[in-house]
Parts: sequence; structure tokens; C-alpha cells
Amino acid sequence: MMRLDKLLAHAGYGTRKEVKALIKAKLVSVNGAAALKDKQQIDEFHDVVCVDGEPVQYAKFQFIMMHKPAGVICANRDDYHETIMDHFETFIGTDMFPVGRLDIDTEGLVLICNDGKLAHRLLSPKHHVDKCYEVHLEKPIDDEQLTKLSEPLDLGDFITQPAQYEVLSDTCIRLVIQEGKFHQVKRMMKAVDNEVVYLKRLRFGPLILDDTLEVGEWRYLTQSETEALYAIK
Ligand code: URA
Repeated sequence: MMRLDKLLAHAGYGTRKEVKALIKAKLVSVNGAAALKDKQQIDEFHDVVCVDGEPVQYAKFQFIMMHKPAGVICANRDDYHETIMDHFETFIGTDMFPVGRLDIDTEGLVLICNDGKLAHRLLSPKHHVDKCYEVHLEKPIDDEQLTKLSEPLDLGDFITQPAQYEVLSDTCIRLVIQEGKFHQVKRMMKAVDNEVVYLKRLRFGPLILDDTLEVGEWRYLTQSETEALYAIK
């Protein structure tokens, strides 16, 4: 069971305030009768909720891909910084959360969902969900540095799995890592005597950042993208 306003917000009908206005305007019905209260408890699996006569498609789990901007932190709430969830007014008060973290200055693909079990699986080292980053470097990268990246690299508190790389220019590479430790890419570059000046995540497991999403934009995952996440063993 869940509140009607939460269900509508979750299904993309607007912020809590906006969906309350829909209910007040008598545009929402539950099992054929006009809904009178935003607090009304709904059985999300059996009740038929309509907005302006159109049935609401409600899915228990929701999945969003966001092109994270720099300057925003991957958290639900923070007293000092703008958070990624501040971009989703619609989902405030729902159970959506970012899966894993990118640093405040890192841009790129972030998955946001409300399936805790799946998120746990995607983040667990057991499942080897690789992540691909575009890494811009302070200094030109040389063969010795590239070789070190492609071998286990001792970062002090752990040893990385060998990373894969593709050289895009002398100061820009694509790097694929298996783990997702705190500041991992920046620490790897420091360990080979270089420095990250810009970092963008391009891929998270099977999910590829949609290049039609401008920085700060988001969209729901397609059915096949969602299925690919659940297919990870
Ligand atoms: N590695 C980093 O150093 N920072 C990120 O945000 C992601 C991976």
C-alpha cells in the first residue's frame, strides 16, 4: 500500500505539490471514483488509478540514467552541497537513490533507482561490474604509465585488478576498472605519477551514457537497459 500522492509523483505526474493540485482539481480517480485525499492509501498492484481518464502505469521499481554535472554530490541529502536528488523534485520523499558515487567534480553516468537488492548486486565486488571513464590528464601519458595501469596496481589500502585502457590523445585515455573504490581513478593516476584534470563516467556495466543527454539531463531506462542490469550474474 502507498499514498496516492506518492504513487503519482513516483509515476512521473509531477512533484508532490503538483500531484496534490491534480487531486484537488478532481482529475484523479481510484477504481472509478474521484479521489478526494492525497493521503488515500492505494494498493499499487490492484487499484486502478487514472489521471484525466488515463490509467497510471505504475512500476514498483524505477530506473533513471542521469548525466551528472560537476558540483553536485551523489547523495540523497546534504547540508552544504547540491545533491543529485535535488535534481529530481518529483522523487523527493520517495525511495529513489543514486547507485554508487561519483566525486563532486566528476561528470557522467549515474544510475538512480529504488531497487536496493539490485543496487547491492551492482556495487558488490563479487559481480565485477566494470566502469569506463574518460580521463583527462595533466601530463602526457607514456608507455610505462600505461603498462602500470594494465597490471595490478598497489594503492596502499588495496591492489587494483588490471585496468583496460584506450589512448584517445597524449593527455586523454579511456579507462575501464573493475572496482569502484573511493577516488579510484584519481588515485591510480597519482600512483603512476600523473594527475586527473577532468573525469567523466561513460559506462556502468551494460549501461552506456546516452550521448543525447546534456549535462544535468536524465531519462528513464529502456526495458532492454533494465533487463541488462538484472541479467548481471
Ligand atoms: N574514480 C575517481 O577518482 N572519481 C570518481 O568520481 C570515480 C572514479
